[in-house]
Amino acid sequence: MDITVNGRSWQVDDTVADSPLLWVLRDELGLVGTKFGCGVGTCGACTVHVDGEAVRSCQTTPTDVAGQDVTTIEGLAGTAPNANLHPVQQAWIDHSVPQCGYCQAGQIMSAAALLAENPAPSDRDIDRDMSGNLCRCGTYARIRSAIKQAARNISPSANQDAS
Ligand code: FES
Ligand code: FES
Repeated sequence: MDITVNGRSWQVDDTVADSPLLWVLRDELGLVGTKFGCGVGTCGACTVHVDGEAVRSCQTTPTDVAGQDVTTIEGLAGTAPNANLHPVQQAWIDHSVPQCGYCQAGQIMSAAALLAENPAPSDRDIDRDMSGNLCRCGTYARIRSAIKQAARNISPSANQDAS
């Protein structure tokens, strides 16, 4: 079967069509930016986008995403016009968000999906939407700051009151 990942069509063996997309991305396609944390949909480390929505790839199969566009952390910048980095990635750098880094690809993917839906999130919106992404290093305060910066950079007018 074929799946579309980061704007490119990939052929995936039928024997893994109903396996977790996470392992297909990592082991079959070599896209190892997406991380395994819990394997049961509760940590967010494996988050990717499917047609722009944040999805746990450990709970999704290639069959589930047939005909849809999957984006991983490796392809996220390509979804931002004229940018080498997605604004969320740049904000992560500017705020030195990562500590060990293990959870951060999932955090960034969830944050980018959040801002695509809600260009001016409140603290409460951020806490609610990001609550499924766990960080054992406790980088939550920097994550929130980085999301707010990215929001201002993506949608200055929507965030005028917040700046
Ligand atoms: S590895 Fe998928 S949610 Fe934890
Ligand atoms: S930065 Fe270490 S788990 Fe989040």
